[in-house]
Amino acid sequence: MKRVKIVSTGSYLPEKVLTNHDLEKMVDTSDEWITTRTGIKERHIAAENEATSDLILKAAKKALEKANLKPEDLDGIIVATITPDNTYPSTACWVQKGLGLDNIPVFDIAAACTGFIYGLIMAESLIKSGLMKRVLVAGADTLSKFTNWEDRSTCVLFGDGAGVAIVEESDDESGIISRCWGANGNLGDLLIQPAGGSKMPPTKETVEKKLHTVHMEGNKVFRWAVRYMSEAALKVIKLAGMKGEDVDLFIPHQANIRIIEQARKYANIPPEKTYIVIDKIANISAATIPIALDMAIDEGRVKKGDILVFDAFGGGFTWGAILLKW
Ligand code: ACO
Repeated sequence: MKRVKIVSTGSYLPEKVLTNHDLEKMVDTSDEWITTRTGIKERHIAAENEATSDLILKAAKKALEKANLKPEDLDGIIVATITPDNTYPSTACWVQKGLGLDNIPVFDIAAACTGFIYGLIMAESLIKSGLMKRVLVAGADTLSKFTNWEDRSTCVLFGDGAGVAIVEESDDESGIISRCWGANGNLGDLLIQPAGGSKMPPTKETVEKKLHTVHMEGNKVFRWAVRYMSEAALKVIKLAGMKGEDVDLFIPHQANIRIIEQARKYANIPPEKTYIVIDKIANISAATIPIALDMAIDEGRVKKGDILVFDAFGGGFTWGAILLKW
């Protein structure tokens, strides 16, 4: 069976940049604390009138243009996000509308920061089953809109943005070679937006208590993240019959530089083959990997035939990794 490959990427970061020094004026924190504990220096913040689908549309148009494709060439759209425009309709429906399409299947998936990897695996399955030929997979989040800007333990961590990949059947050796994914709902309470859903619908009280924002037990999340990201990276490398040193570029989810470092070491991938951009974009949840990939391509870090590994964990808990030949 033929492999499934990424034929084009695009990304978009909102114009507004919020630096650690800006945050020093908002909460009791310091550039030194944020940099040493997380690796983050700055993040992009969506404008008030910019929803998640708006960011995706900008990234999608770039990806289509690069591939010399029209929106009509797409058979499906998968959007990975935990910050949808609305509970319903899906953000994918807004993206479809924005692209001027009206008759292909489109849907959202919620796997937090692992969303883009889940989306790619879904797209691969749809293409291999023959149901679709070409799928647009987006990872996008606007977590700044669901952040408690008075909580220093979370507000320094996140940014906004969108990344997109267009995926289709490969005509050569390039494409996805191995993948793994999983979830453990027992850990759901460690990283959660408590209100706004059917468990706790929004009320005046939930808004006053800021229960519609990110709540996280950082230390515990950190430990599980290291374990799941480390194991997932090593698993796809082993499934492909390779070793860490065979990887040309490791593009991990960028939540914390220390988590990346531990996962990289566990999978035996050299530091110079690890793509780090957390300093400039912070944690953009599902968007982090596709944005990082798009940046790496623009910088000439990805060449034909290279072995790439994507690796992520996220709220849920969810985790997943993909190894592919470019
Ligand atoms: N500035 C200054 N001090 C701070 C800040 C801040 N922004 N935040 C916390 N502190 C303080 C704490 O209050 C604590 O002080 P205390 O010792 O007086 O009580 C001290 O710093 C140490 O706090 P810890 O939480 O132990 O710090 P830690 O080294 O664990 O770093 C962090 C915290 C960065 C949140 C880390 O735990 C982490 O990265 N966890 C994983 C987060 C993550 O990856 N989340 C993914 C979410 S993605 C998604 O799915 C939406």
